[in-house]
Amino acid sequence: VNTNPIGPPEKIHRILENCLKRRVYEKYPDYNQAMTRRLIAEFYGVDEANLILSNGAAEAINLVIIAAKPRRIVVAEPSYGEYESIVGVLNIRYEYVLMKIREERFLLDLGELRSFCEEDTLIVITNPNNPTGSYVDRGEIIDFGRECGAKILLDEAYIELCDKCPIHVGDASENIIVVRTLTKWLAIPGLRIGFIHTVDHGLLNRIDLLRQPWNINSLAECLVEELFLDKRDLLEFIEASRKYIYSERRRVRDLLKRIGLRVFESDTNILLIENPYSQMIIRELLRRGVAVRDCSSFKGLGPSYFRIGVKRRDENDLLIKYLSEEIRYR
Ligand SMILES: Cc1ncc(COP(=O)(O)O)c(C=O)c1O
Repeated sequence: VNTNPIGPPEKIHRILENCLKRRVYEKYPDYNQAMTRRLIAEFYGVDEANLILSNGAAEAINLVIIAAKPRRIVVAEPSYGEYESIVGVLNIRYEYVLMKIREERFLLDLGELRSFCEEDTLIVITNPNNPTGSYVDRGEIIDFGRECGAKILLDEAYIELCDKCPIHVGDASENIIVVRTLTKWLAIPGLRIGFIHTVDHGLLNRIDLLRQPWNINSLAECLVEELFLDKRDLLEFIEASRKYIYSERRRVRDLLKRIGLRVFESDTNILLIENPYSQMIIRELLRRGVAVRDCSSFKGLGPSYFRIGVKRRDENDLLIKYLSEEIRYR
């Protein structure tokens, strides 16, 4: 799982224990998400009226696509596969543009997306991107969005773990819909907390009608209501996470390059690797109890690519050891 290697913060466990003691699961969560929405909006510096909480980014993505009802979606690939999965069911045309590799970095050419700027289109950009780890300046995407006639879904699931990325959500024009999640940076994939931000209130109202009435469960609600009271503490946690990931990613990248692997430049907690023996390496690692992500199914990649997460130092060292042994035998 690609979550924050230094998460979840210690106090999450304590808060959840307290929530359980209060037996919050015996009541329905707030249908209107009033308190949770206010606290999260405050943390990210946006108006709570522009925000709806979702059951992770996954639900957010589905809701945006269903509510926006585009004729086609255009995805900057290689990227997260769920966008394509849902359009198949909804009878929406799926198209994509491929990022280009320059100096061992995947680059998104926003100019290439310009020809898709039509009203009936939803353009999807994951930033920082999964599985490449690459980040495009957020300001450039926002500027591109202002001049583009299409709707733009900006999936920023990994942004808190990227040292050069802004945390704030705002500044976006009507056609930009931002999806965020607490899953990655707080390392709580099991609690399912994400959100959608847009100033398009017509779209937001449709999303509100489409979402499950109690899509944030009472345990997740209870956590947010306690955790987000201390904004400074959370910002410090993000800062510490970014610092750790930055230095550990560079250390792991350098060591992997030294053993002969092609490693792409990343700005977040994932690293994409290419090697002609990847399929054999993936199988051998699995046999030894280490799961890396086979990237065969990603557009523009293939069987020679796999993705690893930046983990704790001892886990990274073990993976590097196994990888160097595999490479030595080839
Ligand atoms: C780019 C991207 N968006 C969204 C998600 C889904 O996140 P969540 O667990 O918050 O639903 C993931 C999970 O891997 C992801 O990589």
